[in-house]
Amino acid sequence: MPGTVKRARVKFAGREVEFVDRVTAIGQVEELAEKGTWRPLVMYGPKGCGKTALLMQARAILEDRGYHVVYVNPLAREVGEMLQYSSALRRAVKEAFKLFPEPYARIVDVAINIAGEAMRRLGRPRLAILMDDIFQAVGVDKAEIYVKALLNLIEYPPADYDKVVVLVASSEGVTRERVGRHRWAAMRIMWNMPRDGFAQLYNILPGPKPPPEEAWRWTGGNPEVLEGLFRAGWNMDVVVDGIVGERGVAALAKRWGNVLGRVVGDPDHLWDWYPDTEPLIRGLVQANLIVEVWDRKPHLWIDVPPPERDVELGIGRHYAWQTPLHREAVRRALSEVRG
Ligand SMILES: Nc1ncnc2c1ncn2[C@@H]1O[C@H](COP(=O)(O)OP(=O)(O)OP(=O)(O)O)[C@@H](O)[C@H]1O
Ligand SMILES: [Mg+2]
Repeated sequence: MPGTVKRARVKFAGREVEFVDRVTAIGQVEELAEKGTWRPLVMYGPKGCGKTALLMQARAILEDRGYHVVYVNPLAREVGEMLQYSSALRRAVKEAFKLFPEPYARIVDVAINIAGEAMRRLGRPRLAILMDDIFQAVGVDKAEIYVKALLNLIEYPPADYDKVVVLVASSEGVTRERVGRHRWAAMRIMWNMPRDGFAQLYNILPGPKPPPEEAWRWTGGNPEVLEGLFRAGWNMDVVVDGIVGERGVAALAKRWGNVLGRVVGDPDHLWDWYPDTEPLIRGLVQANLIVEVWDRKPHLWIDVPPPERDVELGIGRHYAWQTPLHREAVRRALSEVRG
């Protein structure tokens, strides 16, 4: 029963909080724990939608079901957060570390080795490998190789195992294009928080704060954007400027002027004017501004998909702005180009 699941502790806005909502995702992880994964499950979605938090929750569920868990995040801010593992894996970690002169520089390879070691040492273990944001670290061009390595671990393990679960999280927009063209992984999209869950996060934040509807309209349910707004004293300009600065938005605005202006109004114009818009779509996906959403079939999603269309939040049937503030960043870049 999802209701009885132990909730992980995660960090949010400078405090430690209980993982909220995501009941559907929790059920999905429980099912994976039951069956194991027969190929790596790659979940990707908007930056800051809650992938890392979900992996933390997955760890709690999997350990509860008797799994030994190794989690790796090469982009973690602190070394201590780069590699996390269940206590029974300590020996395997030690052995794997011996193989690499600079383990933290090759932490993804180290984690794969830990998994292999654990299979050899632990006698038909249940093993979970949680890979967070690894593609940016190993290079997006190597994403496929690493997914294949993980598939090999499942299909040709160095020793017998009971069950294996492999989850990979990525905010890299090109993940689907690169990894999705092989049958080596199952691809799932994760979206921002649904409204109820988002309200729970919003409630954690101390006031003064804007009304909840306003927070929803700015963030579209994205917890990281909510956190960013909170830290910026709810000054939307600070967050928007951060987005404009980061991602080559100005160059896209200059090149695509009017077309992009229409896409700000409705992201589905990307599809209406396809294939002329193909290079624009690629640019927007690579810059992590939009996501191709397409089908809303539940089995293609982690947790619940966004609504079919929500013009106010910038969600179309085929394409969606990652959040309303991403769209706002593009709108501003356009108005600067136009002068
Ligand atoms: N369900 C949740 N309950 C509590 N906190 C959450 C939840 N989802 C996300 N958060 C918090 O919101 C913030 C952003 O989420 P998180 O870092 O997990 O997103 P992400 O998708 O991994 O982002 P990135 O793409 O940058 O890696 C974090 O502080 C995280 O702990
Ligand atoms: Mg993350």
